[in-house]
Amino acid sequence: MSQAPRPLVDFVAGARPNFMKLAPVVRAVTRQACLAPRIVHTGQHYDEAMNQVFFTELGIPEPDVHLEVGSGSHGAQTARILERYEAHLLRERPAATVVFGDVNSTLACSLAAVKLGVPVAHVEAGLRSFDRTMPEEINRLLTDAVSELLLVSEHSGLVNLKREGVPENKARLVGNVMIDTLLARLDAARERGAARRLGLSDRSYGLVTLHRPSNVDDPRTLRRLLDLLHELARALPLVFAVHPRTRAAAEHAGFGARLASGQARLICLGPQGYVDTLSLAVGARVVLTDSGGLQEECSVLGVPCLTLRDSTERPITVELGTSRLVGNDAERITAAFHEALAGNWPSGKPIPLWDGQAGERVAAELARWLAP
Ligand code: UD1
Repeated sequence: MSQAPRPLVDFVAGARPNFMKLAPVVRAVTRQACLAPRIVHTGQHYDEAMNQVFFTELGIPEPDVHLEVGSGSHGAQTARILERYEAHLLRERPAATVVFGDVNSTLACSLAAVKLGVPVAHVEAGLRSFDRTMPEEINRLLTDAVSELLLVSEHSGLVNLKREGVPENKARLVGNVMIDTLLARLDAARERGAARRLGLSDRSYGLVTLHRPSNVDDPRTLRRLLDLLHELARALPLVFAVHPRTRAAAEHAGFGARLASGQARLICLGPQGYVDTLSLAVGARVVLTDSGGLQEECSVLGVPCLTLRDSTERPITVELGTSRLVGNDAERITAAFHEALAGNWPSGKPIPLWDGQAGERVAAELARWLAP
């Protein structure tokens, strides 16, 4: 007797933080041979350093579909993805669409799918910063509202969804797929020695990333933060992996020189690939960031993380991990920075289900959900 064909399922990725979440899920789905995955790349991120390097380093198969939307305002970018993904769905309708995280691609593809009656599963559902000025918070709320299967990375996600009235049988705690990628690439990251290549030894430097609108869009805030980084770098050299959005904002406001390469103590690089970033993070004495992913990665690596935000949608990284919210006030950041250098910082406890097996659990949940 011939077997029923495996359901065709779209896995959508568009921006840098999606790629390390998609990789372990597609790998597990392929290993379990439970679904026929089709990778859809929206093209939200397109530069080699923001995109292709992740596919190469994480062994993600070449996308089956490229929507090539590129950059734009939120409205224009979201609309372009929605329109192009809808056209793709009308050509060959999958049994379901799986989206990751909270970027514009996540929301746009969820909307296109649900409007055509294609059920949506959301990986990293339920996270809430309760700050609706963040574009990602809007993306999270709306994506969860139209998703049928909500796959949650930390306990707070279940609590948030319940409070919003989501029936309990739609939500599952599966753990953190991004940590699967971290654990799989940690040896490679240690071997890479990204800091050594910059002449820095382990624990003799800090790592910085900044790209949130709240930190980089207002020129006064950005200038204050860059001046502060130069100041902090006198106590500990800082490696700053500058996001294109941040560099563009500094150049536009006329102080791009503060991010010049060749400085001895604030070492400014372009955006880094996955293994290089992990390599810099694992060897750092302290990380200063507004990235959601780095809060989680530092918590698993046991590296002190100063989160330059007033809220986090990932509270477990504060409760059990090594992240502390320090906002973007210079005094508060400076005080926390020196606490971290003095070793007055929690080393972090294990976080439930952040164990390298989350991708396998996601694949099993998807198979159960789509079983005839
Ligand atoms: C997006 C996500 C954010 C995530 C971040 C990781 C949304 C709303 N935000 O923010 O949650 O943390 O990705 O990077 O989806 N650019 C390039 N090259 C690229 C892509 C972008 O130079 O490959 C520049 C363009 O000037 C673009 C700007 O970066 O306008 C912003 O890109 P965009 O995708 O709109 O948002 P991010 O700030 O990257």
